[in-house]
Amino acid sequence: MRLIFVPLLLISSLLADDFITRMEYAKLLYLNPRGIGCDKCHGSDAKGKVIAFYKQKGETKRLAAPPINNVTKDVFLKALNNPKTIMPKYSLTDEEMQSLYEYVTKQP
Ligand code: HEC
Repeated sequence: MRLIFVPLLLISSLLADDFITRMEYAKLLYLNPRGIGCDKCHGSDAKGKVIAFYKQKGETKRLAAPPINNVTKDVFLKALNNPKTIMPKYSLTDEEMQSLYEYVTKQP
C-alpha cells in the first residue's frame, strides 16, 4: 500500500512548485535530465570527474569531463545546445537550462 503513495508524492511535489524549492528541483534535473545524469560525468558537485582510463600506444590516458561550476552562461548554453565530443545532446527547455545553470554555479 505504502509503495503506491511514494511515486504519487514525488509527482505532486514536482507539480506544486512551492512544495520543493527551486534548488531541489534543479538538483533533480541535474541528476535526471531525461537522459544520462550530468553527475555521471561532471560529478555530483559539478567540479568535473575522470570518466574512464584507457590505454593508447602503451600509455595510460584518461577521459574526463571538465568542471562546469565556473563557466559563463554563454559557454553553458553553447555546450548544451552543441556538445562537442561524448556529451549527449539533451532536449531541455530554456527554463530547464536556466535551472541547471543556477544549480551548477551555486555548488560550494
Ligand atoms: C557522458 C558524459 C557527459 C554527460 C552525461 C554530460 N556531460 Fe557535459 N561534458 C562532457 C564532456 C566530455 C565535455 C567536454 C567537451 C564536450 O564533449 O562537449 C562536456 C562539456 C560540458 C560543458 C562545457 C564546459 C566548458 O568548460 O566548455 C558544459 C557546460 C556541460 N558539459 C554541462 C553538462 C550538463 C548540464 C549536463 C547534464 C544535462 C552534462 N554536461 C552531461 C561529458 C558529459
